[in-house]
Amino acid sequence: MSENISTVRDNCKKSEEYLKNNSFNIEKTEENTNVANGDIITLAIESSCDETACSIVKNGREVLSNIISTQIETHKKFGGVVPEIASRKHIENIDIVVQDALDSAGLGFKDITHIAVTYGPGLVGALLVGLSYAKALSFTLGIPLVGVNHIEGHLSANYIEHKDLKPPFITLIVSGGHTHLVEVKDYGKYEVIGKTKDDASGEAFDKVARAMKLGYPGGPIIDKMAKNGNPKAIDFPKALINDDGYDFSFSGLKSSVLNYLNSMKMKNEEINESDVCASFQDAVVDVLSHKAIKLCKDKGYNTITLSGGVAANSALRKKMKELSGRENLDLKYPSLILCTDNAAMIGCAGYYRYVGGRRDGMDLNAVPNLKIDKG
Ligand code: KG4
Ligand code: ZN
Repeated sequence: MSENISTVRDNCKKSEEYLKNNSFNIEKTEENTNVANGDIITLAIESSCDETACSIVKNGREVLSNIISTQIETHKKFGGVVPEIASRKHIENIDIVVQDALDSAGLGFKDITHIAVTYGPGLVGALLVGLSYAKALSFTLGIPLVGVNHIEGHLSANYIEHKDLKPPFITLIVSGGHTHLVEVKDYGKYEVIGKTKDDASGEAFDKVARAMKLGYPGGPIIDKMAKNGNPKAIDFPKALINDDGYDFSFSGLKSSVLNYLNSMKMKNEEINESDVCASFQDAVVDVLSHKAIKLCKDKGYNTITLSGGVAANSALRKKMKELSGRENLDLKYPSLILCTDNAAMIGCAGYYRYVGGRRDGMDLNAVPNLKIDKG
């Protein structure tokens, strides 16, 4: 068990680093100087996939602690997340992660105003661990429970990073499970304008990396390998790029990469893996950025934000900078640690839901396919 605690804590180091680098106070203070009368303190829990995370957020946008225990090492050997193992790991980790989040913030349970928790979308067994824990805390502490949509969490990461950001704006949410173009009309008011018809963009990165036996998760590995490759070496399809709508499709691109790899093998020709990564990544990035910028222009918005794990992609950031600069649009994205799954983003979204009056009961259930525009 003690070995497990040290592994969990080891995995938490990157988020501690982020807090230090961004001058958050993570030292425990005797006097609880982190909290003043009237402050709303959110304890947020995230367990929708393979990260067990807890964060303490003050007044929605100030992160007092952000603890993330990643299970990547466990799932790596299977080439992807194994749902049953993810649930069991969440159960092992959650106590430690919650306690560390309180300790890092220098707070105790008595300082918490409400609990925010991801209740969907995600893996049902994984979601249930965080949700059950959050319900138990809410019930025993006698404080409100607020359910949060994971995708809403992702887009809210930008509120933490950019204190001046206010709706309305357009956001591109790109992760392992989602690829959405959303009009953020107000806090909590969303209209999904476009989404993927099949695979999510992150899923395409993961599946291509898996086919090339590069490892898991595929996104960061392909991102790195693509730096040494030629993005124009192979002409992979950019589905729907010239379509008037805002939907995406990535499964054809994935199949096309797999076909390319197979045909090269059949011909006994050498595969330049860096070129494959760069060309595949270029196709994804081109479609994503083209549609995102087009939506901003078509709807007359001047702010565009990126969020989700794929928003960490260096080529996507570069391309979006280039295109938004050319169109005079204000582009915002979170730092890397707030792109991938974390609980600070859930705390931020949960705060706006809390001040908007949302309260959930003990009957709140996990909703694996929860939609962002449906609550
Ligand atoms: O947001 P996230 O942590 O979890 C979900 O809600 O899905 O996103 C994880 C996804 C994975 O598919 C991973 O391969 C991808 O984000 N990802 C990246 C990069 N870093 C993470 N994709 C492309 N480039 C990256 N640098
Ligand atoms: Zn996510």
